[in-house]
Amino acid sequence: MSLSFPLTRTSSPRTAEDIAAIHADPGFGDYFTDHMALASWSKDEGWTDDKVVPYAPFTLDPAAGVLHYAQEIFEGIKAFRHADGSVWLFRPEANAQRFVNSARRLMLPELPVDDFVTACLNVVEADARWVPPSVGGDEKSLYVRPFEFASEAFLGVRSALKVQFAVIASPVGPYFDGGVQGIDIWVTDRYSRAGIGGTGAAKCGGNYASSLIAQYEGYEHGCSQVIFLEASGSDRVQELGGMNVVFVTKDDVLVTPELDGTILDGITRRSLLELAPGFGLRVEQRAVPAQEVFDGITSGEIVEAFSCGTAAVITPIASFKTETGDYHLAQPVGERTVQLRDGLIDIQYGRVEDTHGWMRRVC
Ligand SMILES: Cc1ncc(COP(=O)(O)O)c(C=O)c1O
Repeated sequence: MSLSFPLTRTSSPRTAEDIAAIHADPGFGDYFTDHMALASWSKDEGWTDDKVVPYAPFTLDPAAGVLHYAQEIFEGIKAFRHADGSVWLFRPEANAQRFVNSARRLMLPELPVDDFVTACLNVVEADARWVPPSVGGDEKSLYVRPFEFASEAFLGVRSALKVQFAVIASPVGPYFDGGVQGIDIWVTDRYSRAGIGGTGAAKCGGNYASSLIAQYEGYEHGCSQVIFLEASGSDRVQELGGMNVVFVTKDDVLVTPELDGTILDGITRRSLLELAPGFGLRVEQRAVPAQEVFDGITSGEIVEAFSCGTAAVITPIASFKTETGDYHLAQPVGERTVQLRDGLIDIQYGRVEDTHGWMRRVC
């Protein structure tokens, strides 16, 4: 039977003035809306107690499995306000399916796709006034964060018999400060993120915890993000700490690492690859050795590069930095990159027709 996530409204909602002040400068992930969705799972009863309730802290037993063994997965989806005031989610079914795949890998119970989507729709509808207005080029949205974790209190390495699912939401502005500017990327050859057979393709917290040290190594070298290479020493480029990577050749080919199980199957990546032919771009998903990237930038074969993901949409890459040298893209904010970015956000903000059927109306 499907879950319905019925709403109990908060008796102390944030005032319209408060929300307007937050919308003026939302930052990223700093403020949370009035409500959240919850559902509990136990081995005996399956999914129960689905609801949308006032946003509040959890009460968690100190022995809860997630705190010790990191049995946890999450998702990230955005809701956009169109010029007519309507509110839309971008491809929530795709996130729901990825959540199922992550659950399988982490041995967590699978939440059916329809239930996941209902939970997200209901939270966004309950907090629709938190979805920032769309005013001329101001790219704000409501970031929706579904997640699931081992809540059973036990010590021992096994999959939990009790699990908590929740959806929270946060109004957000651009992920990187300074608008659409090329960013510098640190290429770490010291730390790896994921190997064959690992959890690279799952969206689980542990992947991010282990990536932090490389991220901070990147900061020390003046870079805002880090890119990982495949762990076996094959020199293959994987992805950034929280985004996929795409290269653009001088012959209008988008080259991006294939989904080999070590990288996340990004929904932004997938959407851009689907949009690419409409812009006269050919797509190649394959193994991409780091040396090919460095040589390609030097020879002029690779003219643009960008990172892509829900949080940062598309961010142009200005350079890759390594221990032995820096490689600067000919176009730090590439023409094709901007074209694809505009193509995608125009669909998300309802400025062009959604011929792909990606947008799901909330209210
Ligand atoms: C490691 C990683 N790669 C790629 C992505 C991009 O995925 P998506 O476009 O679905 O947000 C994300 C963001 O969720 C991520 O965390």
